[in-house]
Amino acid sequence: MSTASSFYITTPIYYPSDVPHIGHGYTTVAVDALARWHRQAGDDTWMLTGTDEHGQKMMRAAAANGATPQEWVDKLVTESWFPVLETLDVANDDFIRTTQPRHEERVKEFVQAIYDRGYIYAGEFEALYCVGCEEFKTEAEVLPGTGEFEGLKVCAIHSKPLELLQEKNYFFKLSEFQDRLLELYRSVPDFVRPDSARNEVISFVKNGLKDLSISRSTFDWGITVPWDESHVIYVWVDALLNYATAVGFGTDEEQFARRWPAYHVVGKDILRFHAVIWPAMLMAAGVEVPRGVFAHGWLLVGGEKMSKSKLTGIAPTEITDVFGSDAYRFYFLSAIAFGQDGSFSWEDLSARYQAELANGFGNLASRTTAMISRYFDGVVPEQGEPTEADIHIQRVVARAAGDADAAMERFRPDEAIDAIWTIVDALNGYITENEPWALAKDDAQRARLGTVLYTAAEGLRALAVLLSPFMPQATAKLWDALGIDGALDAQPIRDAGMWGQLPAGTTVGALAPLFPRVEQPA
Ligand code: MSP
Repeated sequence: MSTASSFYITTPIYYPSDVPHIGHGYTTVAVDALARWHRQAGDDTWMLTGTDEHGQKMMRAAAANGATPQEWVDKLVTESWFPVLETLDVANDDFIRTTQPRHEERVKEFVQAIYDRGYIYAGEFEALYCVGCEEFKTEAEVLPGTGEFEGLKVCAIHSKPLELLQEKNYFFKLSEFQDRLLELYRSVPDFVRPDSARNEVISFVKNGLKDLSISRSTFDWGITVPWDESHVIYVWVDALLNYATAVGFGTDEEQFARRWPAYHVVGKDILRFHAVIWPAMLMAAGVEVPRGVFAHGWLLVGGEKMSKSKLTGIAPTEITDVFGSDAYRFYFLSAIAFGQDGSFSWEDLSARYQAELANGFGNLASRTTAMISRYFDGVVPEQGEPTEADIHIQRVVARAAGDADAAMERFRPDEAIDAIWTIVDALNGYITENEPWALAKDDAQRARLGTVLYTAAEGLRALAVLLSPFMPQATAKLWDALGIDGALDAQPIRDAGMWGQLPAGTTVGALAPLFPRVEQPA
């Protein structure tokens, strides 16, 4: 059994044949922020990401580049996919690649186990396949081609022609799981979130499930079906199992019991695989289903789902080179309601960077630390008898911390940031109203000046802790400047709203601008 405080969270595993873009980065930073939050709260946290390396798409990409699939995938993962994690400052605990033996061996055992339990049979198959999605398509998901694809049937997502495949396949008896899946969605109402995703999944399952083709015999870049070496396991069955094999399924039962079940965060494009097929596979094997699946929306560029194949792709470094990784993380997690689509634009990113980060949070941090240096020789003053205005700030901090934690529990980083930002706004207003620079001119107001600056600095202490999962770099700098004993990552985030943790007498250091002015990209 898993313990109550275990928090295991996953990103989808990415197709390395695609060039990493800000859409992939969006999922990854959301999962990283959720994991960092839980880690900072003291939960037994594990964050997994990785790459989905088998399948026809990868095989063709390798052939087009004159390499073997393994050579090609090794190159892509090392040169393009590992570096993204550094670019975005991601603190994943593990990275799984589906070509690793720890994965391949366990996948065979899993598939053999559900075969032995009678959930797999052999049959004939003919259907339209999209290599981009690595998925067979129903008529409803097919559009007539236009332009160069006139007269052909194209995939509604990729706008590329579909291929008619006829094969002997092995099938998974997905149709037998309709009732059990509906019962799962009923008894665990937040199994699929948000509600729009849950409703879509329920109506899809209610319409009836077809058995799923789970093997391919026309190419060999995959994991061999254990009882029939002429077939490889369908790439999605192979890929979904990463979530279990990475935490010791079939090898390290202790680790598996400690971590499993997982929360999966996925783009809405791959919701059905996670909320329908994956739990059914686990039910067939007699393994506990995931704790939940959260589907977020798409990043749109110029109104379309951003993707490399449609040439709207933007590399994460295009943003981080100019604005830094904290701004990337903050922007995507605050500007888009998690669960809905959101449009990316450079103008919006620049405007928010300037207003919220540079002028809002950054300026609050610089002026507070600078005034403590100037008026108190860099030593945090005592807090005197609080006025209504001071108590208001204390309440804002307490409420923000509670609301942010509740929002993170609901998988809503955007709402958590909104809650935390009430502290930034309240403190900036408080400083403007209390005019410490005016108080500093009057010796009789010395104690009052101390209280005002204590209040601002203690608010910054709470902000550093609460924002650390979103902006690890800026908050680490701020924490250093505040000079508090103890590491930032050792501060329990669920206690961050308790007032008075910053000891008077602490020496505050200099703070370089957290969000410097940037050269606008052309
Ligand atoms: N390999 C499969 C997933 C297997 S998981 C067992 C796959 N890979 S993918 O690289 O094509 O996409 C993975 C994820 O990237 C999507 O689910 C989504 O989370 C993210 N995104 C890709 N494009 C995106 C946008 N334009 N916007 C937001 N997220 C996007 O599917």
